[in-house]
Amino acid sequence: MKKILKSVRGMHDCLPEEINLWNDIEKKLKEILISYCYLEIRLPLLEKTLIFKKSIGDITDVVEKEMYSFNDRNGKSLTLRPEGTVGCVRAVIQNNLLYTKHTKFWYLGPMFRYERPQMGRYRQFYQLGVEVFGITEEYIDLEIILLTYRFWKKLGIISNVVLEINSIGSLEDRRRYKHDLVAFLKKYEHLLDKDSQRRLYINPLRILDSKNQDVQKILRDAPLLSQYINHFSYKHFKNLCNMLNLLGIEYQHNQYLVRGLDYYNNTIFEWTSKTLGSQNAVCAGGRYDNLVENMGGPTTPAIGFAIGMERLILLVKSLNVISKKTEKIDIFIICIENNDKFYAAKLSEKIRDIHPWLKIFINFSNTSIKNNTQHAINSSARLIVTVDFKKHLQSHLLIRDLNNKKQFLFLEKEFLLKINHFFKKS
Ligand code: HAM
Repeated sequence: MKKILKSVRGMHDCLPEEINLWNDIEKKLKEILISYCYLEIRLPLLEKTLIFKKSIGDITDVVEKEMYSFNDRNGKSLTLRPEGTVGCVRAVIQNNLLYTKHTKFWYLGPMFRYERPQMGRYRQFYQLGVEVFGITEEYIDLEIILLTYRFWKKLGIISNVVLEINSIGSLEDRRRYKHDLVAFLKKYEHLLDKDSQRRLYINPLRILDSKNQDVQKILRDAPLLSQYINHFSYKHFKNLCNMLNLLGIEYQHNQYLVRGLDYYNNTIFEWTSKTLGSQNAVCAGGRYDNLVENMGGPTTPAIGFAIGMERLILLVKSLNVISKKTEKIDIFIICIENNDKFYAAKLSEKIRDIHPWLKIFINFSNTSIKNNTQHAINSSARLIVTVDFKKHLQSHLLIRDLNNKKQFLFLEKEFLLKINHFFKKS
């Protein structure tokens, strides 16, 4: 038996039957991004490994164990991007975009993380990300939350997602907090799960987001990060919450929300959905006011988020909010003899020259008329054009109109003139 070649674990094909839904969702999201005047930016899939290490943080899961890194032929270490923010920051610095007036960007593309695959978690996944540079005030935090809110409304999933927000203050606030949190958790070290015990010494804040019930119980008495936040960060967050309240945007202030990437400060947020199971974050982001400077750019505040497109598709599919579209064909051409196939290709080009919007499918495979007809009907075709010059039709084309079950014999010239009659362009 032949061995079937398979894709890399955790990397999936997106098949034509799903693509309509992807395109539909992307189109809706892009329309909203355009309406907010965000500009598309396309970034390389590969970046130098160093820039991720420097910016995401050496002791984060992503950098420690999830990056696809390799040496190129010159021995330079490169990495398949695990996320889009770092590449976008690199690009805006390198291309001097921070000095332009318009610094609101979005991107869409695959990211790569060597994680344990499960539903909603893949090794190659798509993110639609947004990054905005240069604005300190909380109005921009509000704008990007409103933007995501509008996404969910447009997709019809707003009642199935929850906005969780938190402020993680400044680096200095977190340094003080970490010190006290570790001192507290050390008393319960023997009761922590393995993962939290490991994190206690390398990245204790991540323990706050542990899903382990026993750890969560211990955390109830732990000091809260909100008590360590400086005055400016506190006011920033309070103003943001006030504006969300005034606009009637529901949110949960999740005091235990932290992020897995180290570059954040102040506002962080996630949109989660119970429908997604354990990988419940469909969108996540926050402020990263020091990253541009840390990466060699001018001091520039920034904020952004990324949507996990596969998770969004899972959500939309499970809620059945967007109806499935089948690819419709306008003209279905059947060739009876091999000799007719070249003619069919020429004919279809002539039709496309005159009516470029028509969808024309030529079946070059040698299937029966019955199968072809069924295929045409399943594709909601309007016309079946049969080319059979050798046997029955001489130089005529047999045209079957599936809308009103009529059929005609036309010379090519006549048919080209009559197409308008069948298809009125809307
Ligand atoms: P992140 O939380 O690592 O943030 O990822 C953002 C979203 O990408 C997640 O909420 C999830 O929906 C999706 N995602 C992450 N990992 C996977 C995976 N293995 N499989 C499927 N989906 C996944 C970032 O990446 C930040 N760069 C977001 C950001 C932009 N912050 C500021 N600007």
